[in-house]
Amino acid sequence: MSLLKLLKKFLFIQNFATSFVANIPPYLEFTLSKYSAIKKSMYITAHDKTNGSYIEFGVFTGSSFNFAMKVNKKLNKLLGTNECNFVGFDSFQGFGDVSKSDKHPRFNDEVFSVDEKKILKNIKKNSENQKYRIVKGFFDETLKKKPHDYEIEKARVVMIDCDLKDSALLALNFVKNTLQIGTIIIFDDFIFYKGDESKGEYAAFEEFKKENPNIKFRHAFDYGYGSKAFIVSKI
Ligand SMILES: C[S@@+](CC[C@H](N)C(=O)[O-])C[C@H]1O[C@@H](n2cnc3c(N)ncnc32)[C@H](O)[C@@H]1O
Repeated sequence: MSLLKLLKKFLFIQNFATSFVANIPPYLEFTLSKYSAIKKSMYITAHDKTNGSYIEFGVFTGSSFNFAMKVNKKLNKLLGTNECNFVGFDSFQGFGDVSKSDKHPRFNDEVFSVDEKKILKNIKKNSENQKYRIVKGFFDETLKKKPHDYEIEKARVVMIDCDLKDSALLALNFVKNTLQIGTIIIFDDFIFYKGDESKGEYAAFEEFKKENPNIKFRHAFDYGYGSKAFIVSKI
């Protein structure tokens, strides 16, 4: 019996599959796809020898940051050591002052305030043999410094996971001079704000591209719930 005939005959199979998928929490699905996006980006850059730092804007509980370090350890064994330092930025208190146009019902300080001590301890635990640095503070202060001040020379993978347009734009301008051909930029929250093209990470990227026409980006892949990654193809 063909699979289609089987499915038509035994509707309980359909019921089981739909219940199973409906029961997977969206947050879990989104997070797992984020891990996969980081893994792909770390692999592609290791494969092409795009050396440099993994830079993350929006560390929160450290889940994606820790994952990136773990994956790098594995890739070093597989493809040879790729000198990579990991630098993460977060206030650990949320967003601070949010402009009117950045306001969003779910992006608020209450959700993103975390026990920083606990997070830092856990990052340390996950960092075996990896060089890392966590920069605490609001981006409008911490990103006034130059990448060099945080031991960033060139960007290998940039994870933009800071939700708001203002935050994402600060992040992009900060990494601008570290971008090289092959750098992968991941935008984790590319679709939110009801698709409004003037808001969120999407708008920040559009503005950044307009201001920097010399930097060419090629779409690399999509993941999760409307998230996207791009690779610098010309600079
Ligand atoms: C979606 S969470 C990051 C999730 C994290 N990458 C993970 O996978 O677990 C967004 C984080 O960005 C931080 N953030 C956003 N804008 C910021 C700003 N202007 N200054 C400091 N932190 C900011 C928030 O504090 C929050 O922890």
